[in-house]
Amino acid sequence: MLSGKRILVTSGPTHEPIDPVRYIANRSSGAQGTAIAVALRDLGADVVFVTGPAQVPPPVGVTVVRVETALQMLAAAEAALPVDAAVMTAAVADWRVANAAGQKMKKTAQGLPMLEFIENPDILRTLSQHARRPALVVGFAAETENVIDHATAKRARKGCDWIMANDVSVDTGIMGGPENAVHLITADGVEEWPRMAKSDVAARLAQRIAKALA
Ligand code: C5P
Repeated sequence: MLSGKRILVTSGPTHEPIDPVRYIANRSSGAQGTAIAVALRDLGADVVFVTGPAQVPPPVGVTVVRVETALQMLAAAEAALPVDAAVMTAAVADWRVANAAGQKMKKTAQGLPMLEFIENPDILRTLSQHARRPALVVGFAAETENVIDHATAKRARKGCDWIMANDVSVDTGIMGGPENAVHLITADGVEEWPRMAKSDVAARLAQRIAKALA
């Protein structure tokens, strides 16, 4: 169904160095992104999988590009263009440390380190506005309240075609768990998907992408 289609998937967290041995990051196992890459591959797509340091191993049968930082992830995503579709599941750190140290910082009597932050580029937004924009750009929105409203606003702000909105409030048990409950937000409105395994979310999304690119 997707043979001859080239699809970019970003996945996992990014690590933003504080010094050569320390970093800041978001929590992300990479499970949902990996499942999506597998589902797209299984439909015959040529998948470029750009991944930060995730807990789950990357799939076989896809092109794996390993990165650490948001800047590296952006460069790898742009280098993958042109693609027919891009699915951005990575939990990219919003900020990086502007004054990262070249050597390991030492505990000294001089006091505590003062970190300065600088904003990272938004990879989803950059690709959505790119001169070589993929025909279909899909983003994720992990929300803990007003899921639909926030995700709908995010779709407009980022300029992507679809947003997969998921409710990650603690009582759902979704974060780090095997299941997901998503709403697919498109130009046509909101589709509520029943709670299902992350692999089933991935398979259903891959089918939708195949239909959209056909
Ligand atoms: O703004 P927020 O981080 O909630 O947006 C989430 C969506 O944007 C996800 O699809 C994520 O992969 C993408 N994103 C990105 N680059 C960033 C921040 C988020 O691609 N710097």
